[in-house]
Amino acid sequence: MIRVRVPASSANLGPGFDAVGVALRLYNTLELEEAEAPAIEVRGEGEGTLPRAPSHLAYRAALAVVERAGRRARRPRAFRLVQHNRIPLARGLGSSAAAILGGAVAANALLGRPLDAQALLDLASEIEGHPDNAAPALLGGLVACARTPDGVRWTRIAAPPLAVVLAVPDLAVSTEEARRLLPSQVPFADAVFNVTRTALLVAALAAGRTDVLDEATRDRLHQPYRARLIPGLEQVFDAARRAGAHGVALSGSGPSVLAFGDAPGIGDAMAAAFRAAGYGCRTLAVQIDTDGAVVESAT
Ligand code: HSE
Repeated sequence: MIRVRVPASSANLGPGFDAVGVALRLYNTLELEEAEAPAIEVRGEGEGTLPRAPSHLAYRAALAVVERAGRRARRPRAFRLVQHNRIPLARGLGSSAAAILGGAVAANALLGRPLDAQALLDLASEIEGHPDNAAPALLGGLVACARTPDGVRWTRIAAPPLAVVLAVPDLAVSTEEARRLLPSQVPFADAVFNVTRTALLVAALAAGRTDVLDEATRDRLHQPYRARLIPGLEQVFDAARRAGAHGVALSGSGPSVLAFGDAPGIGDAMAAAFRAAGYGCRTLAVQIDTDGAVVESAT
C-alpha cells in the first residue's frame, strides 16, 4: 500500500493567471493499493458527494499513469483507493489538482516510478487543463509555469517565509464556470498591467519584498470578471488591506481569498466582509509548503 500526502495550492496570486501558484500547508492524503476490482472511499471533505467509482479524479489519474507507463510497468487489474480530504472542495484551493496528483504519484510509486516529475506534471496538467495548481501541488513552494505543446515548462522558486491567511466562504464556484466568464480579448493596456504586476510579484516573492506585494497582486485579467460570482469580493480585498495584509488575491478561480501577512486581524476582517455579503466564512492561517507531493509510506 502506498500513502501519499499532497498540499493545497493557490493559483494566480492576482495577476499571474494560469502562470503562478503556491503550495500551502493544508493536506489531503491518499492510500492506494492493487485490488481485484475498483474500490474507492472518500473521508472528510467531499465524503458523500464525490464519486466512489472509477470516475473519481484520483482514480482516473492513477489509471492514466498506468496507460502512460505503457510497457515500462505492469498493468494492475484495479486499485483500492482511500482519500482523506482536508482541502475544501470547489473553493479555489487546488482540491482537484491534489486529487489528481495524489492518484498519479501513488500509482507511479506502486509501479516502481516509471514516470519522472516532468511526466507526472504533464499528465496532471492535461487532466486539469492548466498547470498552476498541479505544479505547486507536485513540487511544493512557489512555481511559475507555462503550458506548451511539448509539455509544461516550469521553474520552482525557494518559497519565501511568508504567512498566508485564507478566507473560505460557504459558496462553491466551479472553475469551468469561472473560466467561461472570461473575455476572449482584453485591452492591450490591461495585458501590460498584468505583465508588469506578474513580473513584480515573482521577483518580490523571490526577494521577500513584502512592501511591493500590494501592487504586485493587482489584476485586470480575471478577478474583475469573476467578481460577479463572488459577492463582496472587493470588500473582502479592502478589509484585508485595511487589516494589514501585504497583498491580497482571489485564490485560483475563487471563491476563497488569499492574503499575505500575519497581522492578527486579517482573517476576522475578511470573514466579516464575506458575512456582510451574505456568506458564512471560515479562515485558515497557513504557511507555504515546500515539500509538494510526498510518498509517506510504501508497504
Ligand atoms: N488558473 C486557473 C484559473 C486556476 O484561474 O482558472 C484555477 O484554480
